Amino acid sequence: MKNLNPTCTASWKKLNKHFETFKTAHLYKLFNDDVNRFKKFSILFENKILVDFSKNLIDNTTLRLLINLAKEMHVPEAILDLFNGEKINKTENRAVLHTALRNLNNDIYYENKLISNEIHSILKKMEYFSNKVISGSWLGYTGKSITDIVNIGIGGSDLGPCMVTEALRPYKNHLNMHFVSNVDATQLIEVFKKISPETTIFIICSKTFTTQETIMNACSAKKWFLKYAQNILFLKNHFFAVSMNIKKPLQFGIDISNIFTFWDWVGGRYSLWSAVGLSIMLSIGCKNFKKFLKGAYAMDQHFINTPLEKNIPILLALIGIWYNNFYNMETEAILPYDQYMHRFPAYFQQGNMESNGKCIDRTGKLVEWQTGPIIWGESGTNSQHAFFQLLHQGTKIIPCDFIAPIFSHNVLDEHHIILLSNFFAQTQALAFGSNLNFFKKDYVNSKYSIYKNFEGNRPTNTILCKKITPYILGCLIAMYEHKIFTQGVIFNIYSFDQWGVELGKKLAQKLYLSLKNKYNFRKFDSSTQGLIDLYHNWNFFN
Ligand code: F6P
Repeated sequence: MKNLNPTCTASWKKLNKHFETFKTAHLYKLFNDDVNRFKKFSILFENKILVDFSKNLIDNTTLRLLINLAKEMHVPEAILDLFNGEKINKTENRAVLHTALRNLNNDIYYENKLISNEIHSILKKMEYFSNKVISGSWLGYTGKSITDIVNIGIGGSDLGPCMVTEALRPYKNHLNMHFVSNVDATQLIEVFKKISPETTIFIICSKTFTTQETIMNACSAKKWFLKYAQNILFLKNHFFAVSMNIKKPLQFGIDISNIFTFWDWVGGRYSLWSAVGLSIMLSIGCKNFKKFLKGAYAMDQHFINTPLEKNIPILLALIGIWYNNFYNMETEAILPYDQYMHRFPAYFQQGNMESNGKCIDRTGKLVEWQTGPIIWGESGTNSQHAFFQLLHQGTKIIPCDFIAPIFSHNVLDEHHIILLSNFFAQTQALAFGSNLNFFKKDYVNSKYSIYKNFEGNRPTNTILCKKITPYILGCLIAMYEHKIFTQGVIFNIYSFDQWGVELGKKLAQKLYLSLKNKYNFRKFDSSTQGLIDLYHNWNFFN
């Protein structure tokens, strides 16, 4: 990948100039001036997903300049580097090939070695195992079929599997899924209350198998299990590992045949397509899991083959950069109007913020431009009654992605039509505010009209799908992955490492020793020391 300062490109400078004249533009006028705006600024993907970006603060010039920026920053070449397995994760000396996991009909090579065989063989192993569990023929230590699956992992080893199993609940079989990530014992203890050791499988999911929280939870789960099973040989029926590391799961006591491996070229937050998705497959079956992979593959093909002007992830990335780097809007909200997708914003909080929350560029210099935005969100319509006040009338402008299916999995009276009415109403209100003629009289003539006024001009993308199926969810996830990738290329940062989480982990080890033993004397800053002293004092009198 080329190392370029985005702000020194001709397009960036032109965008700056364009911004000066365009910043007063209002969506109300942009729509009035162009009856074809929706047609021009929306893209239909396979007649399954419509991405409407017309309610954004852009015009033809904005898009043209942004696309030029992508060209000047060599985005098309970077896409090839990504898919060809170049070691674009330089600081960890790794390739980034999660896309290979969904490319099941082609031979993929990495470092001149065919990797497709390994991908297929792990997928087959997952299929064989999940079929056995789902059919009831995998038995626990007392001869009973499995009823509960506990996925123990954190970050990418938890958020992805948890988000997808929730989003695809309508495809779920009889198995009860549980996710334990937090080292706060509460989560594990609450799961213990719901499961039986005789009928539960634990999947210890950790790329490194060294993550403190996961190993702690795994050890406690093993202890709990052995309290009942009384024989370590029974671990074989109940404990599984998903990891890049084979040695550590073996040391933990997991049978070699119970280890599902993956590779260093799969980043943690992009790992749900690998064996990390085992709990997804257990929950929805192999056929559906393959449809999920297929959806992501379709979006990959769109990303590689579509001209920048019609390329959905690229356009979403560029529009995001327009707000982040020219309007100085700092956050983006993801708002799924589908209750099953309630973990989608949290998933992309990690996806985006761990990828692009960086301040050093690819030349090793401190960036002089904004990098990744703050991502947050909640499912609709709950969010409307929580934080939409600020979205509509606050002093901050928050670009939002509204996502909804036209068809719900749950048809109940008029619920879905009401949900969708709200969905369409919100983007309309955000864009046009009280400029909408049919509301004017309510707002202009009333006593507190100033408070009731809506300026509008608040940008949104509307992502409308037919239904949240495994295929469509796969497309949507890949769409956001590629958006994040494109932005990282333009920010000229390394999107696939996560050094920022290391310092806290190291300090926690030192703190642990000082909490464990008050005579383990270390001099901390006065705040930290004061907190530790109070911890020991309160423990002493307890
Ligand atoms: O928090 C940092 C991180 O490395 C994430 O990137 C990753 O998803 C998570 O920890 C879990 O790591 P592992 O799968 O190795 O336990």
